[in-house]
Amino acid sequence: MSQGLPYRIYSFWGLLPLWMLCASSANKCVVRREVADCSHLRLTQVPADLPANITVLNLTHNQLRKLPPANFTRYSQLIILDGGFNSISKLESELCQKLPLLKVLNLQHNELSQLSDKTFVYCVNLTELHLTSNSIQKIKSNPFKNLKNLIKLDLAHNGLSSTKLGTELQLENLQELSLSNNKIHALRREELDFLGNSSLKKLELSSNQIKEFSSGCFHAIGKLSGLFLNNIQLGSSLTEKLCLELSNTSIQSLSLSNTQLYRTSNMTFFGLKETNLTMLDLSHNSLNKIANDSFAWLPHLEYLTLENNNIEHLSSRSFYGLLNVRYLNLKRSFTKQSTSLASLPKIDDFSFQWLKYLEHLNMEDNNFPGIKNNMFTGLIRLKYLSLSSSFTSLPTLTNETFLSLANSPLLILNLTRNKISKIESGAFSWLGHLEVLDLGLNEIGQELTGQEWRGLGNIVEIYLSYNKYLQLTSNSFALVPSLQQLMLRRVACKNVDISPSPFCSLRNLTILDLSNNNIANINEDMLEGLDKLEILDLQHNNLARLWKHANPGGPVHFLKGLSHLHVLNLESNGFDEIPQGAFKDLSELKSIDLGLNNLNILPPSLFDSQTSLKSLKLEKNLITSVEKNVFGPPFKNLTNLDMRFNPFDCTCESIAWFVNWINGTHANISGLPDDYLCNTPPQYHGLSVTFFDTSACKDSAPFELLFVINTSTLLFFIFIVLLVHFEGWRISFYWNVSVHRILGFKEIDRQPEQFEYAAYVIHAHKDRDWVWQHFSPMEEKDQSLKFCLEERDFEAGALELEAIVNSIKRSRKTIFVITQHLLKDPLCKRFKVHHAVQQAVEQNLDSIILIFLEEIPDYKLNHALCLRRGMFKSRCILNWPVQKERISAFHHKLQVALGSRNSVY
Ligand SMILES: *[C@@H]1O[C@H](CO)[C@@H](O)[C@H](O)[C@H]1NC(C)=O
Ligand SMILES: *[C@@H]1O[C@H](CO)[C@@H](O)[C@H](O)[C@H]1NC(C)=O
Ligand SMILES: *[C@@H]1O[C@H](CO)[C@@H](O)[C@H](O)[C@H]1NC(C)=O
Ligand SMILES: *[C@@H]1O[C@H](CO)[C@@H](O)[C@H](O)[C@H]1NC(C)=O
Ligand SMILES: *[C@@H]1O[C@H](CO)[C@@H](O)[C@H](O)[C@H]1NC(C)=O
Ligand SMILES: *[C@@H]1O[C@H](CO)[C@@H](O)[C@H](O)[C@H]1NC(C)=O
Ligand SMILES: *[C@@H]1O[C@H](CO)[C@@H](O)[C@H](O)[C@H]1NC(C)=O
Ligand SMILES: *[C@@H]1O[C@H](CO)[C@@H](O)[C@H](O)[C@H]1NC(C)=O
Repeated sequence: MSQGLPYRIYSFWGLLPLWMLCASSANKCVVRREVADCSHLRLTQVPADLPANITVLNLTHNQLRKLPPANFTRYSQLIILDGGFNSISKLESELCQKLPLLKVLNLQHNELSQLSDKTFVYCVNLTELHLTSNSIQKIKSNPFKNLKNLIKLDLAHNGLSSTKLGTELQLENLQELSLSNNKIHALRREELDFLGNSSLKKLELSSNQIKEFSSGCFHAIGKLSGLFLNNIQLGSSLTEKLCLELSNTSIQSLSLSNTQLYRTSNMTFFGLKETNLTMLDLSHNSLNKIANDSFAWLPHLEYLTLENNNIEHLSSRSFYGLLNVRYLNLKRSFTKQSTSLASLPKIDDFSFQWLKYLEHLNMEDNNFPGIKNNMFTGLIRLKYLSLSSSFTSLPTLTNETFLSLANSPLLILNLTRNKISKIESGAFSWLGHLEVLDLGLNEIGQELTGQEWRGLGNIVEIYLSYNKYLQLTSNSFALVPSLQQLMLRRVACKNVDISPSPFCSLRNLTILDLSNNNIANINEDMLEGLDKLEILDLQHNNLARLWKHANPGGPVHFLKGLSHLHVLNLESNGFDEIPQGAFKDLSELKSIDLGLNNLNILPPSLFDSQTSLKSLKLEKNLITSVEKNVFGPPFKNLTNLDMRFNPFDCTCESIAWFVNWINGTHANISGLPDDYLCNTPPQYHGLSVTFFDTSACKDSAPFELLFVINTSTLLFFIFIVLLVHFEGWRISFYWNVSVHRILGFKEIDRQPEQFEYAAYVIHAHKDRDWVWQHFSPMEEKDQSLKFCLEERDFEAGALELEAIVNSIKRSRKTIFVITQHLLKDPLCKRFKVHHAVQQAVEQNLDSIILIFLEEIPDYKLNHALCLRRGMFKSRCILNWPVQKERISAFHHKLQVALGSRNSVY
């Protein structure tokens, strides 16, 4: 590892030039399947080396001046050719000839100014032609005549002063024609009659300066169902004329956004009486006044948007006749700037009574003074009502506030941002169908007795997040057992630890949000019985104490039994401890957020039940190590991990397993590598954990084994060396003995009578007097005892060495009389001892007897004679006593030694 880290850094920098190389060589088209993307390459010519079978060629954002047909010969399979954002000023008709299959030709943002009859003559198969943002000012004769299959033609942002694109009937399949942002001043019948056979779903004429709708202009078009005339100064009179011209056409959709229609009269839309108009957009008009019966002519209208206007007053006949409207958008539709109460927008009672089919009413971002008793009366099909930020202030919701909705089958009611401060008992009792109630972002501050929700028999979701304070009671939600989602984020929630739990009747609850409440106390049974709970948000509270071991009564297991929980958020709670079994019931958990806590060491097996975890967040904690025994199970199926900003300890034990996992996983790890830095050890401080080289720690188990083997080998070796050093002689001696035994030298245990002598006595010449003096008396005492004494028994004339060998062989034992003299005697040293020992080795270790006449250290004995006391049995080692009275004991010992049977050991 110590080498690995710098190496990794080096190779990281080493990649840079390669990457730059790639970037510079990327100055080529990207071909994927049959699509060639040559955009943004500053090309001045059409590339000639693309695969011939491409069907899409993107040449946008280059510097092409033309598209020479010859260059496309190769690409005859093209279906889509995008040449937008170039400087093409001329188009040759042969282009389409080379591209017979072409369906989409995009030449937007170029410099085309002239289109001739020949330009598109071969483009028969074209379905889309985009010529937006060119410089076409006039269309002469019939350039589009042959485009029989064209569906979309876009000529916006040119300099066209007329809608006339041809002199003959053509474009019979055209569905969308855009002529927006041109210089068209008038719509004239003869300038549109080339569309006499077309069925236009969308005629886009926005942002022109149209001042005139000549008689019959729309009737010239075969069939027109969608007309867009946004951003044109029409005013009410021209609008009225427009509508008259649309009379008896098949118009369905009319968009008149930002047309300076400040007021409508009962005649404005008169002309639309003879149509089946279903969609009308009157947004962004500063519309101030809607006269009674203005919409009386639009009985087929289904979709009306009045967004962003300045309406002052809705009377009971403003919407008269809108029998079929299903969707009404009144977002920001009413006067806003006014400060005095008198000029606040007014909605009279029964204003919506005609809208029998209205299902969706959006009244967001308005400034109404309040809700009147019959404001919504008559909306008998209303399902969705958004009153978000609709009122200057709606301080109290009483049991009469929503009386006018009593007959509406309302499913969703949005009351956010209305400065509501109190909900009185029974406020929603009229809304028995309601499924979703949003009361978020208000100023509600009260005790929830439970009566607030009376009558909400079908309620599924209640949003109460972001209010002033909510004091819970055991009955707070007792009347809404159907509730599935309850949002109580940042409501200064009080009494959550009341018993029985405020949530105990919510058996169907799947989502509970209690975040940002600074809750510090929770009972173990707060969530008991909430078997269906899937999402639990407890972030930004103060729950740390509950999981401390030191907590009086032990850790509080408030998550127990939540077997269907999928998402758990415990971020920012100050947790520094998690008890062992905290998550053990949460076997279906998919996502857990423990970010921004103070967690350091997590208990092993903490996440063992979380094998289906997909997302784990632990960013900004104090985690130093990521080990398998904690993170193995949850990492198995993980797709998202966030462990940024932890003080990782980059050692093999702490981080190696994690780094290996990172290298092998497909999971998305946010912030990698920059936000995963080593804190310790000091030499890696500030480096990314991804630089940590795990090869040094790889397979640490075999490594440890190797270490054990190496160490024990070394120790064994040292032991052997020491043994050989101190006891080597013994080993080699006994080795010698063993070898002789094994090789079949039979123990020679001849009977005493087979030997001529009882013992051969080896002594130094200078010690001969002592030997003579002490051995001959013994012979005299015991007639059977006969020593071989060199001076006396050697045959005269016999060669001395041979005599010695023979004598030793004929003696049962060999006696060494050891003195300083013997050690220095050269013959003894080299020869006699060798033979004696040789015989002892071959026959019997007992056959040698050492008699020490003086104290000789073992090392000297070894050095001089290669003998050691340790080679022999203790009874074969005799010391000549200094005291006279012990001499008889010595004799006795010697006799024992001489009489002992020759045997191994
Ligand atoms: C298109 O041509 C390329 C080679 O130029 C070839 O690899 C590819 O398989 C071809 N695709 C088809 C659909 O023929
Ligand atoms: C061609 O590339 C441009 C820019 O990358 C892109 O906006 C355009 O949609 C592409 N055209 C086609 C037909 O894919
Ligand atoms: C494109 O065609 C022109 C002739 O029209 C030829 O001079 C040029 O080399 C061609 N370019 C490529 C890239 O084939
Ligand atoms: C139009 O495309 C079809 C194949 O879709 C092809 O057979 C036909 O020849 C093309 N027409 C022309 C005029 O290129
Ligand atoms: C339109 O309103 C005027 C009064 O403003 C009224 O005299 C006239 O009869 C109304 N026309 C229709 C068609 O309702
Ligand atoms: C409106 O629709 C009805 C029924 O679909 C149809 O008979 C009538 O002709 C349509 N009116 C116009 C002007 O298209
Ligand atoms: C509303 O509540 C008050 C008491 O607060 C009660 O007198 C009145 O009858 C209730 N109105 C309705 C319509 O229930
Ligand atoms: C209520 O309206 C607000 C503002 O448009 C929106 O953000 C919120 O999602 C709506 N609530 C519901 C439950 O749709």
